Formats: sequence, structure tokens, C-alpha cells
Amino acid sequence: MTDQTATEAAARGADIDWAGLHELAVEAATHAYVPYSKFPVGVAAVVDDGRIISGANVENASYGLTLCAECSLVSALHMTGGGKLTAFVCVDGNGDALMPCGRCRQLLFEHSAEGMLLATVSGIRTIDEVIPDAFGPRTLAVYRGEEQA
Ligand code: THU
Repeated sequence: MTDQTATEAAARGADIDWAGLHELAVEAATHAYVPYSKFPVGVAAVVDDGRIISGANVENASYGLTLCAECSLVSALHMTGGGKLTAFVCVDGNGDALMPCGRCRQLLFEHSAEGMLLATVSGIRTIDEVIPDAFGPRTLAVYRGEEQA
């Protein structure tokens, strides 16, 4: 990413209450169920209708079944009315920015509004920057002949 692109992304997020989202993500992390990793994660996001939602990770004795914080966020998204995500924050147990894992970038992409912004370890990034050339709903629509490539 060029410096100019980074600046543009940051400028696009000027209207987002990043501090408020961060505070909510930190609070969400206190609800994490992490008896195995002891690594709480909290996330918070803005939905395109203005709703604010959050989530935390929920682990399982069968480790591979762990639900990342993003999973609970996406469930909250649909349980509270659906829509698309426009801005997103993810923090660790210290309240520091944490990059969503690869699987969760895919999960977020599925539910992202065009140009969704993420507060990352390297500043404000767009969803396309954190998961370039992503496979997503539009890919399948193109294969079905419903959209142009
Ligand atoms: N984790 C998340 O909740 N989200 C991520 O994007 C990265 C990883 C959780 C899963 C597991 O409970 C803990 O962090 C350690 O991997």
C-alpha cells in the first residue's frame, strides 16, 4: 500500500468514532470464554444503518471448534437486523489492535460494505487491502452469470 492510499483510507474513516468502537471492543473482550488459550479477543463494528455491534471469542474443549470473536460479531449482525459492516475494530486482552486471522478476514469480507474500514496494527485499512482479490459473493454471482466479471 502506498502512503497516499493509507492517507486516503484514514481520511475516509474521519467520520468514524474509532475511540468509541475501541472502547466497545475492549468491553466485549471481557465476555470472552477462553479457558484454553487465555487469549481474549474483542471486536466491535459499525453497520451501514448506524447500529453498533460487538463480539468476543468462545473456545471449545475440541480446540478446532473455537469461535473467533468475529464469528460472534457476524451472528450479532444478523440477529440484530442484518446489513453490511462499514467499520471494524479488533483488540487483544491488552486493548491493543489485533489483526483478524485469515479465516475471519474472509468472514468479514462476506458481510462488508463496499470500502469497509478496519483499524489495524498498521493503521486504517480497507477490507480489500486486508484480503486482496477475495473470493466472495460476487465471485459466485459472476459464475452464475448474474454479474459481469
Ligand atoms: N482469535 C479471534 O477471536 N479472532 C482472531 O481474528 C484471531 C484469533 C481467537 C481464537 C482463539 O480463541 C484465540 O484468539 C487464540 O488463537
